[in-house]
Amino acid sequence: MLIRHRTPMDLLSSEITSKTVYQQRREFLKAAGLYGAAAFFSPHVQAAAATAYEPVPDRSAMPRFLKEKLAARRVATRPFPEELTPYDAVSTYNNFYEFGLEKDDPAQNAGNMRLDPWSVRVDGLCEKPGLYTLEDILRPHTLEDRIYRLRCVEAWSMVVPWLGFPLADLVRRFQPGSNARYVEFTTLHDSAQMPGQRSSGLPWPYVEGLRLDEAMHPLAMLAVGVYGRSLPPQNGAPLRLVIPWKYGFKSIKSIVRIRFTETLPGTTWARIAPSEYGFYANVNPAVDHPRWTQKRERRLPGGLFTPNWRETQMFNGYAREVASLYRGMDLKRHF
Ligand code: MTE
Repeated sequence: MLIRHRTPMDLLSSEITSKTVYQQRREFLKAAGLYGAAAFFSPHVQAAAATAYEPVPDRSAMPRFLKEKLAARRVATRPFPEELTPYDAVSTYNNFYEFGLEKDDPAQNAGNMRLDPWSVRVDGLCEKPGLYTLEDILRPHTLEDRIYRLRCVEAWSMVVPWLGFPLADLVRRFQPGSNARYVEFTTLHDSAQMPGQRSSGLPWPYVEGLRLDEAMHPLAMLAVGVYGRSLPPQNGAPLRLVIPWKYGFKSIKSIVRIRFTETLPGTTWARIAPSEYGFYANVNPAVDHPRWTQKRERRLPGGLFTPNWRETQMFNGYAREVASLYRGMDLKRHF
């Protein structure tokens, strides 16, 4: 079934429509006017061509434990074969519908989000339910840099140096029961702070989920930072998921609840348009979105006149690592 009504995800840079051109023109103008020369000469951008990067200065007020964790991070040494997307693009071209529908809304509207204190409720089928502060969550983990591709279902992509720790290490601490098959994540629901929750038509709060074995995969991570600094609010501070082999909408931001379940979680996009956004959402160039191709993607930043198109890879280039999770499954049906 083709969903006729438009959802926020339909603001597509992949659609060749006047809206797209308009949005790209705005991006182009913004790039030229707002951070024009800086975008070409700032240390972050120069670092983009290298495998490592210059940490971006962090002037945000953050709790001491987080500052200490970030300072003690394990720096990435493994070279990444593709250019990093500059920090300016990573932190201004966002999807975070709680703060608005346009790509630059989150950067403009999320600045005053209250990040401290922050806690996460853990419940459902596990031995260690409870309300955990962010400090509790982070305490035993060493933060590490991980450079991953991020492929949005809207057919744009980035390469981002996240800073975080394996999701599996956290899940193990809560001791899921033998009957737990899924883990569900929920974003903060606070319309006083999140203007998008007052106006746009998604059913709030934003919910995502993974099969438990997906959550335990070593590539699945929880991020608290990016480019060597704490996460800016628009990127999902203070705690977000990063699942690099799945479309970006699985990488839920600003998590306040983790719940272990026996049944498939009712996730936001799969509920709104189940024929367009499946629960698995594995990046798959062989399964097109009903209204656009998933065979290629536009790598950001790129410009109005130089869109940086590239072929989309199965599981976003992580097939060697994750394909075995889906052995025997029909990925056209379980998309
Ligand atoms: N999480 C919440 N709570 N709300 C959102 O709107 N958007 C998703 C995902 N996580 C979203 C979210 C989508 S569609 C994408 S592509 C990524 O966040 C974008 O992450 P980024 O803005 O850090 O690039």
